[in-house]
Amino acid sequence: MIQVSITIKFSNVNLKIGKHQLFENLSFQIPFSDGIILILGPNGSGKSTLLKLICGIILPDSGDIEITGIKVDESITEENLRLLRRNVKVVLQEIDNQLITSRVLDEVLLGLLNIGYPRDEAMVVAEQFLKRFKLWEFKDYDPNELSYGQRARLLISALSAMRPKVLGLDEPEANLDPIGRLEFLKLLSELSDDLLVIWITHEITLLNLFLSQDKLMEKLRGVIQISDRGVQVNLSDPRSSLEELLRSNLRANRSLEAISEKLLRKRLTT
Ligand SMILES: Nc1ncnc2c1ncn2[C@@H]1O[C@H](COP(=O)(O)OP(=O)(O)O)[C@@H](O)[C@H]1O
Ligand SMILES: [Mg+2]
Repeated sequence: MIQVSITIKFSNVNLKIGKHQLFENLSFQIPFSDGIILILGPNGSGKSTLLKLICGIILPDSGDIEITGIKVDESITEENLRLLRRNVKVVLQEIDNQLITSRVLDEVLLGLLNIGYPRDEAMVVAEQFLKRFKLWEFKDYDPNELSYGQRARLLISALSAMRPKVLGLDEPEANLDPIGRLEFLKLLSELSDDLLVIWITHEITLLNLFLSQDKLMEKLRGVIQISDRGVQVNLSDPRSSLEELLRSNLRANRSLEAISEKLLRKRLTT
């Protein structure tokens, strides 16, 4: 575990959406440069918005945010903004808006050429990443011809090839089949070897699987949980947060089962 510098720092961050105060005086630090941070919470709780703040895509109403040592606010210089965009990559929920070329290989090449790789070096890196993400055989396809899972992998491959320090993932596994999900977890484990992955999910089955894999749990650096009690950041014992969440979910499911069983019985007896 590398713990050299503060990768993310929030100080008294406030954000309102419409009339709703989504985040209030939110302060936390993430002192890791590799591994996985999980963002968990029900639909509409603010997970995607928090990730956008963490990745410097949106600004708070007030408070300070520092990402990879760069202070992010309206007065950010062009140079720092470029550095920030270089350090932090994010896969948002609508992946198809983020795929921009009409050839799989070009999708990875484009980013590398943009950040100044010479063409021959860019080719070598693109091949390496497309092979790593099992997409090399599709290199001449139009991304539209790929499955959802393959498109998600392509986007992650194109972004991670540029070697960011932070990679945000907003539920890229949501539309995957069970095998795709297993592959995604494997990918997550590999990716988090040398960068900090911030992963939003609300897939309970996937989290159960995550908890059962020692290799992944070793990479878990923290859990950020959003609930009606606010935002809880647990970096000291993330396993217990995850276990508690899964336990309470189990209880919720059981009580749902109990309710439907009661309804069913009532229907049968009346
Ligand atoms: N651009 C926006 N305009 C209006 N409301 C928004 C916008 N983005 C998010 N919200 C609202 O903010 C809340 C949090 O949204 P979001 O961060 O997408 O939650 P999550 O990812 O946990 O489902 C929701 O109530 C959502 O409706
Ligand atoms: Mg979301």
